[in-house]
Amino acid sequence: MIPINKPTIGEEERREVLEVLDEKSSLTSPSKDGGKKVRDFEQLLRQFLHVKHAIAVNSGTAALYSSLLALGLKYGEEVILPSFTFVATANAVVAAGGKPVFVDISKHRRDYNIDPHELKSKFTKKTRVILPVHLYGNPANLDEIEEYLQRYSDGSVFIVEDACQSLGSTYKKKQTGTFGTVGCFSMYASKVMTSGEGGAIVTDNDDIADRLRMIRNHGMVEGYDTRILGLNSRLPEMSAALAKAQMLKLPEMLERRTHNAKLMTELLLTSSDKVSNIDEHVILPEIHEVNKESNWYLYTLAFKKDGIRDNIQKKLVAEYKIGASVYYDPPVHKTPFYDEMVKMNSLKLENTDWASKHVLSLPVHPLVSDQEINFIASSLIEALSNQP
Ligand SMILES: Cc1ncc(COP(=O)(O)O)c(C=O)c1O
Repeated sequence: MIPINKPTIGEEERREVLEVLDEKSSLTSPSKDGGKKVRDFEQLLRQFLHVKHAIAVNSGTAALYSSLLALGLKYGEEVILPSFTFVATANAVVAAGGKPVFVDISKHRRDYNIDPHELKSKFTKKTRVILPVHLYGNPANLDEIEEYLQRYSDGSVFIVEDACQSLGSTYKKKQTGTFGTVGCFSMYASKVMTSGEGGAIVTDNDDIADRLRMIRNHGMVEGYDTRILGLNSRLPEMSAALAKAQMLKLPEMLERRTHNAKLMTELLLTSSDKVSNIDEHVILPEIHEVNKESNWYLYTLAFKKDGIRDNIQKKLVAEYKIGASVYYDPPVHKTPFYDEMVKMNSLKLENTDWASKHVLSLPVHPLVSDQEINFIASSLIEALSNQP
C-alpha cells in the first residue's frame, strides 16, 4: 500500500529522542517556558516562520482551544469557521465556550477554503473570532478576510488561523499562521512534520504569548499559583525532540512534496490517452497559483461528475493499493453532534456539500518515489476510464 501519509523518520530523530532518554533528565517540564527540547523546537519554529513567539503544546486541538482562551472568548460569543475541515476546529470552539457559526467555502471549485464574501451574512454583534482553515495546505484568502474586518469590525474581532495542515505554505510570500493574531499548527503523525501528537501556537503579541504559556500549564506561572484558566497542554520532551529533528528536515521534505505534486499534475495532464482530456473530468489542484504556495500536505482533486468518487476511491485502494482518501465527508455540520446544533437554523452550505461528495486526495508525501507517482497517475486514469 502507498499510504496517504507517512512520517519520514531517520537517524536524526532517533538521536534526539535517545538524548532525552540517555540524559535521564526530565521527560517533561512544568516550568513556564517548557523543557530543553521544547525550547529548542520553539526556537526553530520561530526562525522558520519569522515570528516573535512560538508556544509548543501537545496537539493542534490544544493549540486552537488555548488560543481562544487566551483571546478571552466568552461563553456564547461567536466564532466563524468553515464546516469543510477536520472536526477539531469546531470542537475547540465549543470546548472554549464559543458558538460555532459555519460559513461556506468558495464556489471556485479548486479553493476549498472559506469564501470571504460569505462573511457578511454570518457577522453579528456577537462575532469575536474568524477562524479560517488552510485546508489541504492551500492558503485561505487572508487579504480579503483582513480587508473585511478592517471595513466592518471595530477591532474587537480577531483572526485565529487554523494552520494545522499548512506549515510551510505561504500567502504573498509570508508563512500561513503568521497573519492572524495567533496561528495554530498540528504535529499529528500525518502532518508535514510530526512529533506523533503535538501542536504549536505562534503570535507576535507579547501579552497573548504570556497567557498561552500559562494556559498550557494550568494557568500557573511559578507553580500552584493559577492566575487564569488553563489545562495540561504541555508537549513532552521526547515529542519535542522528534519535533526538533523534523523541523531541521522540513525544507527538504517540503521540496519533495512540491516535486511530487508537480509531477502528478504533469503526468495526469499528459498521459491521459485513455481519457481524452482529464480537465473535462477532474478539477486538479492549482500548481502555479499567484500569491499562494501550498506545502502539499494533500494533493486533492475533485471529480466533476456526480457519484463516481466513491467507486474510484474503492478501486484505487482495493485493486491498486493506493491510499486514496476522502477529507472530509461528511463535513462538520453534517456530523450527528453538529447537525443537532445547526438544525434549528436550517443551515445550507452548497459548496461545502458539493466538495464533500467530489474530492479525493492522493499520496504525495516525501517517501513517494517518482515511479510511484507514475503508478498513481496511471491508476487514476485507468480507474476513471472504466467508469460507466
Ligand atoms: C484542520 C485541522 N484542524 C485541527 C486539527 C487538530 O490537530 P490535532 O490532531 O493535532 O489535535 C487538525 C489535525 O488533525 C486539522 O487537520
